[in-house]
Amino acid sequence: QRKWNEIGSLDENLKDKEVLIRGRVQTIRPVSKTIAFLVLRQKGFTVQCVVTAAPELVSKQMVKYASSLNKESIVDVYGIVSKPNEPIKAATQQVEVQVSRLYCINRAIEKLPINFEDAIRSEAEIEAAALENKQLARVNRDTRLDYRVLDIRTPAKQGIFRIQCQVENIFRNFLISKGFVGIHTPKLIAGSSEGGSAVFKLDYKGQPACLAQSPQLHKQIAICGDFNRVFEVGHVFRAEDSYTHRHLCEFIGLDVEMEINEHYSEVMKIVDELFVAIFDGLNENCKKELEAVGKQFPFEPLKYLRETLVLTFKEGVQMLQEAGVEIGFEDDLNTESEKKLGQLVLEKYGTEFYILHRYPLKVRPFYTMSCYDDPTYSNSFDVFIRGEEIISGAQRIHDPEFLKTRAEACGIDVQTISTYIDSFRYGAPPHGGFGVGLERVVMLFCALQNIRNSSLFPRDPQRLAP
Ligand code: 4AD
Repeated sequence: QRKWNEIGSLDENLKDKEVLIRGRVQTIRPVSKTIAFLVLRQKGFTVQCVVTAAPELVSKQMVKYASSLNKESIVDVYGIVSKPNEPIKAATQQVEVQVSRLYCINRAIEKLPINFEDAIRSEAEIEAAALENKQLARVNRDTRLDYRVLDIRTPAKQGIFRIQCQVENIFRNFLISKGFVGIHTPKLIAGSSEGGSAVFKLDYKGQPACLAQSPQLHKQIAICGDFNRVFEVGHVFRAEDSYTHRHLCEFIGLDVEMEINEHYSEVMKIVDELFVAIFDGLNENCKKELEAVGKQFPFEPLKYLRETLVLTFKEGVQMLQEAGVEIGFEDDLNTESEKKLGQLVLEKYGTEFYILHRYPLKVRPFYTMSCYDDPTYSNSFDVFIRGEEIISGAQRIHDPEFLKTRAEACGIDVQTISTYIDSFRYGAPPHGGFGVGLERVVMLFCALQNIRNSSLFPRDPQRLAP
């Protein structure tokens, strides 16, 4: 096994030493028949390699060969580290590699559908150039998604998906530290778990079935099965009809379900502590990634309080009414009113992250518990980042007869969920939980504007590839 060096670790300490690196050819600059510069990229770091025809270095043929490489090809390079007098603008590393051997491991095609330099450009840069009558290429979203393999090589996208991994990691670790058990529930189920028509129907060996819209029913059965506190990270399927900036047909759901001792505020307390831990963790551990994202998609850091603000639905509606929005105390919030309320909350309380609870029962799914003191409302909540929903949660009905009545009232075929309802006939504790959309959390934490930016291979009503 030869000793390999990482491009990101090349610095002055290696001056005059021989190194072996692997990287992608980011740029090629042939200067003459005897000298060419290659910038190689690995894990977001870049280094300038100098290919010079000289007796102790390489042949003229090698300079010609290096000059003819296609961008994005993978090469292995042996060379000696040197330190130029001038700062190096073209690369992240402030040393060069004087190439002694170069091998192309895999050649990329000559005509790439997306140029790296175009793909990393910010909208602000394009607009600033336009003001000076210079036209810079813009890579549109569909091209990026068609050639996702190239788009995700950009530092911003690399940052986004590393941030996403951190969110998932903190979610798991936090919940395990609070006594939750990670579970996996089936994605092939007999009937709709959330109600409504947004289900992908399929044929299960002759029996009608669908892809799970959420782990809702099974996470509740797990609670009835004495798991006490559970979580799941899994795929969620929604046959969305509309094409919006925040809906996908497949997304990653972070789900939580827990026994409640006295009040559903115990569930909201977990949301509060969990999300403060997630935001603190990202700000602390993902500085480099956040900076890379911000370079291409500039955003202000999220404003959040040490203890999450909790407002009632009625208080929210009242704030909207006072601001001139036409909305009643039993109406649902639409996208615009949610955005508007987000602005009002920010102005009044200085936070972009908050919980709204006690929603009207009629706008919530069938399994939601009504308020004991006023059955028009429910023991439920939504959670918002920058005025957009990232979580919905609630206390659930644990009485099987009441559950059946509510399912029927909401137009659900109770036959398809009979084993779920029966699970409550053998003794069921009061319980509640919530579901988080992972892509939404990352999209809104980084103010990315579109959920396709935070889904590695998005599935929307118009896209099934790559
Ligand atoms: O609000 P939803 O539909 O709630 C449930 O699935 C419940 N079972 C949760 C619970 O435990 N009570 O979905 C939960 C979250 C939303 O807040 C949103 O962040 C995300 O999932 N979400 C979507 N994300 C992307 N594309 C879609 N089509 C989404 N639909 C919901």
